[in-house]
Amino acid sequence: MEKIPLSKAYDSEEIRNGVLKVIDSGNFILGPESKSFEKELAGYLGVKRFVLSNSWTSAVHLLLKAMNIEEGKEILLPSLTAFPSVEPICHVGLKPVFVDIDETYCMDPEDLKKKITPKSAGILPVHLYGQAADMESIMAIAREKGLFIIEDCAQAIGARYKGKRTGSLTVASGFSFYPSKNLTVYGDGGGIATNDDSLADEVAALRNHGRKSKFFNDEIGFNMRFNEIQAVVGRCQLRVIDELNEKRRKHAERYSSLLKGVVKVPEIRKSSEHVFHMYVIEVSERDKLRDFLKQKGIGTGIHYPVPVHKQPAVINLFGEVSLPKTEKAVNRILSLPMFPALTEKEIDFVAGCIKEFLGR
Ligand SMILES: Cc1ncc(COP(=O)(O)O)c(C=O)c1O
Repeated sequence: MEKIPLSKAYDSEEIRNGVLKVIDSGNFILGPESKSFEKELAGYLGVKRFVLSNSWTSAVHLLLKAMNIEEGKEILLPSLTAFPSVEPICHVGLKPVFVDIDETYCMDPEDLKKKITPKSAGILPVHLYGQAADMESIMAIAREKGLFIIEDCAQAIGARYKGKRTGSLTVASGFSFYPSKNLTVYGDGGGIATNDDSLADEVAALRNHGRKSKFFNDEIGFNMRFNEIQAVVGRCQLRVIDELNEKRRKHAERYSSLLKGVVKVPEIRKSSEHVFHMYVIEVSERDKLRDFLKQKGIGTGIHYPVPVHKQPAVINLFGEVSLPKTEKAVNRILSLPMFPALTEKEIDFVAGCIKEFLGR
């Protein structure tokens, strides 16, 4: 049994009472709680619309479908990300083109430039571990080449880039509320944020069998709806998300003050406000350290041990490519316990165990 897990989903009395109220209401799918959650998310992010769906993967699938991009076009994305980042791209007949990472583990704009071809249509940067990618450079490249950008904000709700919330910087963005995320529901959940009303309306229709009005199905859609119980859970957390993210930042500061010079600690981009979905260190004897920490009752993770371009499903479809910085990082990165309820004592214990292992 782990004494200190890698992550822990948020819980409160307010959530428990809210869930019971939904059960009593008898209204379970896309009802008033979901509508309020959408409005509140849009307000929080500073965008016109938020459309909920049953995961990031579903929401971005619907989004790409709604954008109606010509088949065979290319979308540029990092490979150091969760596998789902690539799935909607493949499902709508587009081709993923993988870009290497910079020193923050996000998409490297220099490599991005090299990977653009006449077939490029869009860019999907991932705000990995809770930190915005180098959006100024990426947006300048996109403007110059006439490409759209969809931000992958699955790990970065509440993060800011040059004062603006990630997810509000481009045509649209995708969010996940999977139970390990900074804002979680108690199951799967996600959605897209956009300032484009017609895109939002189309995603909303597609998620509900292509229905734009009660009795008419204008197109063949999907069942990728959100539900009222998860909306209550999400709404309660949205009220405190800034507080929860601030706690993560404080924990990260403490880890870094204890571990700087011992292992490679995360680099924070000047113009960004990190929300530390993950606190990731780099160390050469990563697997041995991981085993050692496990024996001490400390849960850790590797995000990600096999990058997307090395996954069999992707190689089978698109062949092999090489991304040297990503391939080096995946053998060295280690995610340490990170969640708001973590205590200073626990952080000190984790850092102490790492130093003990390294003989420092
Ligand atoms: C960066 C990133 N993108 C996409 C996803 C997919 O999110 P979901 O599980 O809500 O589909 C995740 C979650 O694992 C993620 O971390």
